[in-house]
Amino acid sequence: MFLEERRSRILDYLDKYDRASVEYLASLFTVTRETIRSDLNALAKQQLIQRCHGGAVIIRRSLQSKLITETGKDFEVLLKKLQHQTRHKNQRKKGLPMSNHAMKGKVCILGSFNVDIVAKVDRFPKGGESLLAKGSTLGPGGKGANQAMAASRAGAKVHFVSKVGKDQFSHFAYEHLSTSEIHSFRLYQSETEPTGNAIIYVSQQNGENMIAIYSGANQTITDEEIADITPELEDADVLLLQMENNFPATLSAMRLARALETQIILNPAPYSDDVLSCLNYVDIITPNETEASLLSGIEVSDLDSAKAAASKIHALGAARVIITMGSRGALLFDGQQYQHIPAFPAVSVDTTGAGDAFNGAFAAAFADGQSVAQAAAYANAFASLAVEREGASNMPTHSQVMTRLAQR
Ligand code: ATP
Ligand code: RIB
Repeated sequence: MFLEERRSRILDYLDKYDRASVEYLASLFTVTRETIRSDLNALAKQQLIQRCHGGAVIIRRSLQSKLITETGKDFEVLLKKLQHQTRHKNQRKKGLPMSNHAMKGKVCILGSFNVDIVAKVDRFPKGGESLLAKGSTLGPGGKGANQAMAASRAGAKVHFVSKVGKDQFSHFAYEHLSTSEIHSFRLYQSETEPTGNAIIYVSQQNGENMIAIYSGANQTITDEEIADITPELEDADVLLLQMENNFPATLSAMRLARALETQIILNPAPYSDDVLSCLNYVDIITPNETEASLLSGIEVSDLDSAKAAASKIHALGAARVIITMGSRGALLFDGQQYQHIPAFPAVSVDTTGAGDAFNGAFAAAFADGQSVAQAAAYANAFASLAVEREGASNMPTHSQVMTRLAQR
């Protein structure tokens, strides 16, 4: 076996099992321990792994060394094959107590990457009005990328799949993901559409926002590209999705996840009527108040109306419902019981991405084996820290969340 192939297989092994000893790898590849040491040192130099006493642990692994332009699998053939296989996916570890341990769950996220162009304003402009902004930034965003950021900050092993254009922003996306804590990612490139962007106003009065999104390449994901995620989806505890991609791709990912017995969490944002046609695939749906109102036809304005909306959304097909309610926290409904999980007090600076913080953190905690209520409490604490920071993708760390949880 050539050196490059052996190193790539060492990475595959570490990616799957997190750690390995020099001795074990030497016997696995039937080479000397010296050879393995030199492989590990080379991989450590590329910052793909970390050397530890007698072996190595994985740091993170990008599944690609460049942007991907084409793929060629037949999605329906793959799905049929999977549906005819008997699968024995491990049951979720149930109800782990919340603790300081780093999360162990695996979360696969299919979603958008956008470039966020933010203007900080004293107040939102009226129609036809120009006003001077107090500041402006250009940074990474997109619900998918923000949620991937949040889940990985919470400590989950995250695999993120997204699509960008063939423009300078695609390199920006690649750099952002490469230097983040996201464990691995697949970034496709569209031949026809530009990288998605969002024009955002953030009010300096209360941190509220106003957003116009151009989804661009995010809307061009093909079934073949979804088929490519099969190994990561099979390995994941949870698939987390939003509504910023072309809906057929989102639906295909759900069908694949269902066939692979991976739990599906859908954040139905931004709202589209398409959501109604996929509710039967959804294990947990996480609308905010606006989305819950649109989904259910019941105006959500307080806890009672949120309960009525949650019942309706459950009746429409979603197994469990979590309505996020800003500073009021979250309402859970599992088809039998309602549970209100209060928010944590926060000095809100920028609420852009609050929902993303909640969803990413929730998925990480749920994939780790926590109950829905425990995971929602963790996500409330996580999101309360996120609204205290500027920037949609600017997420807190797991230890900051544990400190906030301990303060309650
Ligand atoms: P956005 O669209 O701005 O990203 P959203 O409308 O999708 O947000 P919200 O329901 O407003 O999502 O907020 C999501 C979660 O963030 C809440 O459930 C709560 O945990 C937390 N959160 C939001 N705003 C506040 C706040 N002012 N104080 C404390 N926690 C907050
Ligand atoms: O949820 C916030 C995100 O919505 C922003 O980052 C923006 O890109 C839009 O997708």
